[in-house]
Amino acid sequence: MSRLILLLSGPNLNLLGEREPEIYGTGTLDDHVALARRTAEAHGLELKHVQSNHEGALVDAIHAARSWAGAIVINAAALTHYGRSLQDALAMADVPIVELHISNPHSREEWRHLSVVAPVATGVIAGFGADGYRLAIEAVATLLNAG
Ligand code: DQA
Repeated sequence: MSRLILLLSGPNLNLLGEREPEIYGTGTLDDHVALARRTAEAHGLELKHVQSNHEGALVDAIHAARSWAGAIVINAAALTHYGRSLQDALAMADVPIVELHISNPHSREEWRHLSVVAPVATGVIAGFGADGYRLAIEAVATLLNAG
């Protein structure tokens, strides 16, 4: 089984650090990826990260990962709530999938309460701020080590 994890970041997450820090904190996406990578390496796992503001690029990354990834961690950002092509692509990925959010979308505006990722995810981590990146990789490590 592959020990490589694909971490996917959706639209606007490239601006973390500047973007609504009262909601998302002051850490940058690079900080979060570094935390995820350190956590992965501590478990003998490797991480590849792809960020895009375009749904199709994320779909392409999921398709490509079918040949190499052992797990996918995805913060699809706003696409979480309406990105049906992402949902379809993830449904074809035959690996554990962790849906990740920095904030807790369920405690926010109503339009954030629907996730199209959740029905095809193994589990969801939301609302723990930057630490969610560590928790998501811990969850993947547990799943991969159990498999
Ligand atoms: C987010 C929550 C989404 O509702 C929002 O559109 C984002 C970030 C989060 O990490 O909390 O861009 O996925």
